[in-house]
Amino acid sequence: MRVPTENAVPIGDIEEKDAAQWCALGTLLVPHGGFLAAQLQAGEIALVNGATGSFGSAAVAVALAMGARCVVATGRNEQALAELTRRFGARVRTVPMRGDEANDRARILQAAPGPIDCVLDILPPAANAVQVRTAIMAVRPYGRVVLMGGVGMADGAGLDLSYSWMMRNCITLRGQWMYPPHAATLMTGMIRAGLVDLDQFEVTAFGLDRANEAVAHAANHSGPFEMTVIQPR
Ligand SMILES: NC(=O)c1ccc[n+]([C@@H]2O[C@H](COP(=O)([O-])OP(=O)(O)OC[C@H]3O[C@@H](n4cnc5c(N)ncnc54)[C@H](OP(=O)(O)O)[C@@H]3O)[C@@H](O)[C@H]2O)c1
Repeated sequence: MRVPTENAVPIGDIEEKDAAQWCALGTLLVPHGGFLAAQLQAGEIALVNGATGSFGSAAVAVALAMGARCVVATGRNEQALAELTRRFGARVRTVPMRGDEANDRARILQAAPGPIDCVLDILPPAANAVQVRTAIMAVRPYGRVVLMGGVGMADGAGLDLSYSWMMRNCITLRGQWMYPPHAATLMTGMIRAGLVDLDQFEVTAFGLDRANEAVAHAANHSGPFEMTVIQPR
């Protein structure tokens, strides 16, 4: 595979048998880029909005690995939320989203064990701006919010955030596309240290001659911690 040299980051030796699992880097690095941009600190409380999706669930794993005291995880799918608790235990507090902004935000604040320092939104284009604002405005004064999702790409209303709320509370709001090159080195370190467990990912590998099957499989297995790879032998 040919890649621009500035996009090739050495990660050191890996066992050939683990190569497919290491492809989870591609998923983990996206929310890692967001939390680096938001300067998430160990001991802080993070909120992942859209935590039941493929990248959102990875965001929960990454925030825990970066030392978050607690990750508040939102989503509509209660089964997927329960699965996050099963995987990660008491440091994750799940909040089912029901579509009423004020009520959803009140339950987010109730679930958090303290003020929410940092919000990462990673909702898809099908979600609406109100779902994003529900989470954004749960952040504490002086809090940081990072937008990584696809909201608005399929049209729909804009965020309509309160100017005075942002101003008075000294809120930092930023977007983040992907991640800086050094994130790959840091994430590799967290994996090697056991802070991120690649065994969380269920990997299905296909040979190059079964590429079409791989694509069909990937379409039906795109949930949290599911990965389909093509592994030329
Ligand atoms: N910034 C970046 O660098 C970057 C990189 C890669 C991807 N992304 C973006 O990340 C977003 C999420 O990707 P993904 O692969 O994690 O998506 P996904 O697996 O489809 O997850 C999205 C989650 O959003 C939730 N959701 C809430 N409202 C929804 C609605 N109205 N319709 C559908 N789902 C809704 C769903 O969970 P519930 O049903 O539980 O609510 C779903 O699990 C995409 O928009 C993608 O563009 C950004």
